Amino acid sequence: MRVYTTLPFRQILKEGLSPKRYHHSLMVEQTALELAVLHRGDWYRAGLAGLLHDICRDNHQGWQREYMEHHGFDFREEWLQNPQIWHGVCGSFYLKEELGIADRSILQAVRYHTTGRAGMSRLEQIVFVADAISTDRSYSDVEQLRETARHSLDEAMFLCLSHTVAYVAKRGLPLVRESWEAYNEYSSKKGSERKYDF
Ligand SMILES: [Fe+2]
Ligand SMILES: [Fe+2]
Repeated sequence: MRVYTTLPFRQILKEGLSPKRYHHSLMVEQTALELAVLHRGDWYRAGLAGLLHDICRDNHQGWQREYMEHHGFDFREEWLQNPQIWHGVCGSFYLKEELGIADRSILQAVRYHTTGRAGMSRLEQIVFVADAISTDRSYSDVEQLRETARHSLDEAMFLCLSHTVAYVAKRGLPLVRESWEAYNEYSSKKGSERKYDF
């Protein structure tokens, strides 16, 4: 039986994040644990990945870019234009290199929490959705999304990604390939449930 203790990680987060972001991290940990129990996911990994997902969120963007380049990340143009998604990739490198977390499923969940990707694992879905519906979130429709997430992670993923697509379109930004591949996948899953009257 693994003992779930995150105290050492909390201390590291507290030192690197703003109080607001630290609080958000604790809320995402909590929500990820709940979703994992609800959807028969790995609650241990979900809690840990949820807690640590934003570990590099408050690092300067210049630092993030350098850190990613140092680890060989290939910045495509659409990545350059969306710096707010960089911290997912940074976080996965940081957890591996600086904190010695070797568990690939946790690293992937942190890496893709900003973009999604096609073929996401349940753990990746849980962290992605938990980030969107944690109790510190208060945007309109969040209650509806929370309700949806209780029933279906696929459906919640589709709603989150639809929001991402609308968000970048409204600002005239490009959508990174990872996100549109994810969007298309969840959209297709919904499509197979649609009934057309031709
Ligand atoms: Fe994040
Ligand atoms: Fe977050």
